[in-house]
Amino acid sequence: MEKREIANRDDIQSLIDSFYEKVKADELIGFIFNDVAKVDWPHHLPIMYDFWESLLLDGSNYGRNAMEPHFKLNKLVPLQPEYFDRWLELFEAAVTTLFTGEKATLAITRARSIKEIMAFKMNQINHPGTDKNIPLVNPGNHQ
Ligand code: HEM
Repeated sequence: MEKREIANRDDIQSLIDSFYEKVKADELIGFIFNDVAKVDWPHHLPIMYDFWESLLLDGSNYGRNAMEPHFKLNKLVPLQPEYFDRWLELFEAAVTTLFTGEKATLAITRARSIKEIMAFKMNQINHPGTDKNIPLVNPGNHQ
């Protein structure tokens, strides 16, 4: 299939749908979504379209706190650095399989940056007083 630019919400939807199909089937992190969080996909997916539309296409539908569910989740299953690495690997693969161009690159840059912050924060909670596992390379401006 010809790779295309991420130009509109339909493109975001294709990206996110294909990403979560891989996530659900993943042997390392799938259980977190399927068995621990028991994600209600029809509810969750439109939130994720809004989130990525706001990051990539200046959409304004996402006004929530993206960190919060991860703090809750981290209490049920400590979110390990390798889980975040896998998450990012799957995300990048979904982007590069389907898309090319400036927005595709931006999607990867943004995902890397937020993943760094999230993994760093979880690591602080799970291993207080140590930074041995995760150097915070690119803090960006996310909270
Ligand atoms: C190990 C890594 C990760 C795991 C296991 C994980 C898992 C989850 C789960 C279970 C939810 C809640 C779904 C529900 O509503 O039932 C969620 C929500 C969300 N995740 Fe993640 N996530 C991870 C990493 C990330 C990263 C790196 C990003 C951003 C780049 C991200 C963005 C979001 C957003 C935007 C939401 C929706 C928050 C809201 O309710 O507004 N996640 N995640």
